[in-house]
Amino acid sequence: MDLKSEIDLDKLPQHIAIIMDGNGRWAKKHGKPRVFGHRNGVTSVREVTEGAAELGVKYLTLYAFSTENWSRPALEVTALMALLVDTVRKELKTLTENNIRLQAIGDLSKLPDRSRKALLEGIEKTKHHTRMTLVLALNYSARWEIMQAVKNIATQVEQKELNTNAIDEQVFENALSTAGMPDPELLIRTSGETRISNFLLWQIAYAELYFTPIFWPEFRKQHLYEAILNYQNRERRFGKISEQIEK
Ligand code: IPE
Ligand code: IPE
Ligand code: MG
Repeated sequence: MDLKSEIDLDKLPQHIAIIMDGNGRWAKKHGKPRVFGHRNGVTSVREVTEGAAELGVKYLTLYAFSTENWSRPALEVTALMALLVDTVRKELKTLTENNIRLQAIGDLSKLPDRSRKALLEGIEKTKHHTRMTLVLALNYSARWEIMQAVKNIATQVEQKELNTNAIDEQVFENALSTAGMPDPELLIRTSGETRISNFLLWQIAYAELYFTPIFWPEFRKQHLYEAILNYQNRERRFGKISEQIEK
């Protein structure tokens, strides 16, 4: 069955966020070390990036490394950071050919120099691309992001640039690292886990959540289409009742 042709392009989510999970379990299933799973996960990143861009999705945010992930064995953390450098360098050509802009959210200052440098270089070289924005969440934690926003706003108030009464949702959103991006309408998590793990807490207030048992290294375009079709078959009511929704 051709899932892609069933997608209603007029009802495409503008922003899809993905918690890429299950690399370790996938590797274990194949009798391989965890890093093998992370390496194979890169193919899935390429697939969804390409798949999303082909459809016309405007923003794709991928959770690549959480602040909590620093607690993993040192060897795994080092391997993940090295993989980041490699991947950004290798994929730069594909991003350019596909007119995709790279961005990152998270506390990048804590990344190893080499990884940060590769990342910033990728961001710089793709900054004029317009087809889709690929956002990597790296050393990301939603609570950290919210704290940063609070501090930023407090400073503006302190310096009399902003009135406390003027603080509204827009002001707050502008202080987040996702400023200017639409909220994700669809959040996908692979590997059968059904939690959020400190990802985009503010931004997913009204996102549709989609959980799949597929491990991340097995995730292909078809799985992305399945998730989008599932999303399109839901009724997004935003507090209203079914009869009030324009069909
Ligand atoms: C997701 O896969 C990748 C990262 C968190 C970096 P995991 O490494 O969490 O895989 P599992 O959950 O152990 O299977
Ligand atoms: C969440 O995956 C973070 C990323 C996908 C980068 P984890 O596998 O680290 O999440 P928890 O700790 O099991 O919730
Ligand atoms: Mg995991």
